[in-house]
Amino acid sequence: MSFTVWADEYDRFMGRYSTRLAPQLADFAGVEAGHTVLDVGCGPGALTGELVRRLGPTAVSAVDPSETFVAAAQERYPEVDVRRAAAEDLPFADETFDVTLAQLVVHFMKDPIVGLGEMARVTRKDGVVAACVWDHGGGRGPLNVFWKAARELDPGVDDESQLAGTREGHLAQLFQEAGLRDIEQGVLSVGVEHPSFDEWWEPFTLGVGPAGGYTAGLDPQRQSELRELCREMLPTAPFTVTAKAWTSRGIV
Ligand SMILES: C[S@@+](CC[C@H](N)C(=O)[O-])C[C@H]1O[C@@H](n2cnc3c(N)ncnc32)[C@H](O)[C@@H]1O
Repeated sequence: MSFTVWADEYDRFMGRYSTRLAPQLADFAGVEAGHTVLDVGCGPGALTGELVRRLGPTAVSAVDPSETFVAAAQERYPEVDVRRAAAEDLPFADETFDVTLAQLVVHFMKDPIVGLGEMARVTRKDGVVAACVWDHGGGRGPLNVFWKAARELDPGVDDESQLAGTREGHLAQLFQEAGLRDIEQGVLSVGVEHPSFDEWWEPFTLGVGPAGGYTAGLDPQRQSELRELCREMLPTAPFTVTAKAWTSRGIV
């Protein structure tokens, strides 16, 4: 389950949304030519790719605790320094980077305050730490219809809405608790068109992240009930899923 999956499965499930967030997060953080940057929780490289386009590969470093994602990101961007590590224990010296970013990662950190604190430690004085997390708490994430249907069938389901940073204002609060200053918040928005219901649904069956893990754990009957309820809740294809992410940036 979770993030020990292959890169192409991740791309089909979440990469289809996260690649569109990447330029927005980089803009919000003020990433520009000449910066050195760290991508924390890079996955197979949705944000890494955007940073390489802006800065060139040697200005970019990336970490992720998942071995398969590290291998995929390294294969895609051979000149980027990609390492296997978690945010809570970053393998870099103090004040190494101008900007340190985490796209869709804070809610998966074991300890978000320690993770954000580490991100600040490896960023130079007056440098920027920025992150974004889907608005699962406000029901505006890309998996909203899926979790709504799952809740209807199983009211006790753990639908990611309680995770760190996913409710309004919480990401900025975590930045403050991690010691960052001059914190600003915003909302990022992506729209992804789905040509058919099956194209939307099939990636949920690949076991990626909490939603994929939940789907994989259902017996075939329950899985089919969930699929059909999602079909009822969604507009007729083609349809566009619009998703919002909370974002925050702070100065070190
Ligand atoms: C939703 S994916 C985001 C991947 C990529 N940043 C993107 O935008 O597509 C979450 C990522 O966080 C990683 N992750 C989980 N726990 C982490 C931690 N404690 N520190 C850093 N990354 C973590 C996972 O392995 C996974 O690659």
